[in-house]
Amino acid sequence: MSNDASPQSHRAINLSKKFELFSEQWQPKVIAEMNDYQFKIARLEGDFIWHDHKDTDETFIVLEGELRIDFRDGAVTLKAGEMYVVPKGIEHKPFAEKEVKLMLIEPRGVANTGHESSQRTAQNDIWI
Ligand code: NI
Repeated sequence: MSNDASPQSHRAINLSKKFELFSEQWQPKVIAEMNDYQFKIARLEGDFIWHDHKDTDETFIVLEGELRIDFRDGAVTLKAGEMYVVPKGIEHKPFAEKEVKLMLIEPRGVANTGHESSQRTAQNDIWI
């Protein structure tokens, strides 16, 4: 667990600097927690898989680039500075034509691919 995220350090968490610490895609990194919720940053590019999260909503905040989230009945496109909350139980599939940098907010322990298992399934609780 990173000390940067501990309140005792009184140190700002700098998103740009956090992104400099990794280059791999589809591997969300935890940068902070609030109660049971985690703030994760990730680089995404290409197609994800269809999945849903039965027990929780999932928040996407785009920091750089453009992300499209497909739903069975439509899609939403998010540019830098835009966010969207995917309601629990709603199937979705993120897609980014070029690399996008984003923040995810969701409860601790949520699998990125929901109940689906795929090569996109990322390990949880990787702090940077
Ligand atoms: Ni999801």
